Amino acid sequence: MFLCNLRSVTTQSRGIFIAFEGGDGAGKSTQAARLAEALESLGHTVLRTREPGGTPIGEKLRSLVLDHGHGTIDARTEALMFAASRAAHAHQVIRPALAEGAVVITDRYIDSSVAYQGAGRGLGTAEVRGLNEWATENLEPDLTVLLDVHPEDGRERRTAGNTGEDRLESEPDDFHSRIRHAFLELAAARPASYLVLPANDPVEVLAGRILERVRLLLESPVTGGRP
Ligand code: TYD
Repeated sequence: MFLCNLRSVTTQSRGIFIAFEGGDGAGKSTQAARLAEALESLGHTVLRTREPGGTPIGEKLRSLVLDHGHGTIDARTEALMFAASRAAHAHQVIRPALAEGAVVITDRYIDSSVAYQGAGRGLGTAEVRGLNEWATENLEPDLTVLLDVHPEDGRERRTAGNTGEDRLESEPDDFHSRIRHAFLELAAARPASYLVLPANDPVEVLAGRILERVRLLLESPVTGGRP
């Protein structure tokens, strides 16, 4: 079972929920993996997961919504598919792991829908947030790590990775620019719940700053339960 060497006994059963967010090519997956390794070596039980995906139905939705070749997907359908994947993820994976006291690290969460579908597709950030609060029954991260990337840098990094661009990644730079600003606005509105870092900083520097912040979170007593 979960052995927590930093948090107090009274908060052990609640777990900690951390989301990584940022534009395409920001390096979220690398940093999520680094954080998971570091926390495991400190004795924590860590669940690393991602969106869209994280459950069998979520992985199917992931390929439907991201792959080219399923014909046109209108913006509302796209938003509902991401929200459906997230509902399954929150209920089947994230909440049970938190109840066991794990540190849950997800690569993308609600902010991605608010930024990509709300701002990028123009569906409205408040509307998309409302849809996702309903889908997850208001399950919010304790901390969101936002890796801020300029659209041009993100595209350069993705091209260097040479894995081909999915439906969202292949949108033009102005789409990615709206997304970047939406992420920054979300962080500015609730600064205590965000760590915003420039994605271009060296990998080691970013990993160190993220771990430092997460350790503070693990040491601080958490009041109240989850909705
Ligand atoms: P991601 O898994 O980060 O891409 P990759 O594994 O290729 O690096 O995200 C997939 C894409 O889906 C990305 O372009 C962002 C987009 N997305 C949304 O538009 N809305 C969402 O709610 C989520 C979770 C992702």
